[in-house]
Amino acid sequence: MSHNLLQGKRGIIFGALNDMSIAWKVAEQAVEEGATITLSNTPMAIRMGDVEALGKQLNAKVIAADATSVEDLQKVFEESVDALGGKIDFVLHSIGMSPNVRKKRRYDDLDYNMLEKTLDISAISFHKMLQVAKKMDAIAEYGSVVALSYVAAQRTFFGYNDMADAKSLLESITRSFGYIYGREKCVRINTVSQSPTITTAGSGVKGMDNLMDFSDKMSPLGNASADECASYCITLFSDLTRKVTMQNLYHDGGFSSMGMSLRAMNQYSKGLEEYTDENGNIIYG
Ligand SMILES: NC(=O)c1ccc[n+]([C@@H]2O[C@H](COP(=O)([O-])OP(=O)(O)OC[C@H]3O[C@@H](n4cnc5c(N)ncnc54)[C@H](O)[C@@H]3O)[C@@H](O)[C@H]2O)c1
Repeated sequence: MSHNLLQGKRGIIFGALNDMSIAWKVAEQAVEEGATITLSNTPMAIRMGDVEALGKQLNAKVIAADATSVEDLQKVFEESVDALGGKIDFVLHSIGMSPNVRKKRRYDDLDYNMLEKTLDISAISFHKMLQVAKKMDAIAEYGSVVALSYVAAQRTFFGYNDMADAKSLLESITRSFGYIYGREKCVRINTVSQSPTITTAGSGVKGMDNLMDFSDKMSPLGNASADECASYCITLFSDLTRKVTMQNLYHDGGFSSMGMSLRAMNQYSKGLEEYTDENGNIIYG
């Protein structure tokens, strides 16, 4: 049901790959709420994914860009301002990738070239996006920029690997740039820290099914879905949240404030044996 929360607003959505993507749901809801948008993803993702179909469905121009390339980002902002007919009111950064996770490198055996890629794609791209937009003065006053994060930025989660470092950096950039962009142009910048969600990127996290189950059992409201995450992003793009900036906002059913729930404790008591490999050696998990 539409509330026309984004009536007349112009937005750029980075990171819709397929209909499981959080960005996909945000794009659909943004248009439903009255916005006009452009979509951006890498040339490879546009070839392999379904973003062109989404573009057709939402009447949105699809602009190919690698978010680690400043030139590509300039093109996205230029073409979006042109296509949408004015300054941008909201931007979603829904981008994450770790070559170390993909190649199953453990955190105590990282490949440092890959670590640089993880940080560049998943965090520094956010700085590049903001710097490009600010230099071009492409975002309207009280415009809203949101990036997606995860609680592993604050607490350690087995298997999240170097993405935890990327999310910490992402949240730090949010505060540092939020100060400057807020002070000079009234642009607000926040991260939404989302529950584990089944998506293409999400499935790369080691033990994702168990993590989702644990997180669901720990959260008084259960895990938040991609659709629910999109709804929260819409409120942050709307004029109802004009003084919210530089925040990391948990959207996780209460998970981040929990210590131990009854359901998780019951589950845990069923499997207390130590993990061992086939030779009986303990695996520290
Ligand atoms: N799925 C989860 O459990 C979860 C939880 C919390 C936060 N997040 C975050 O949500 C965001 C979106 O992920 P998702 O779960 O919807 O998965 P997804 O795989 O659908 O989206 C990730 C996107 O990043 C894009 N991308 C990768 N490298 C890029 C580059 N160099 N330039 C531009 N785009 C690039 C991919 O093409 C893809 O569209 C990520 O930041 C992710 O870390 C996900």
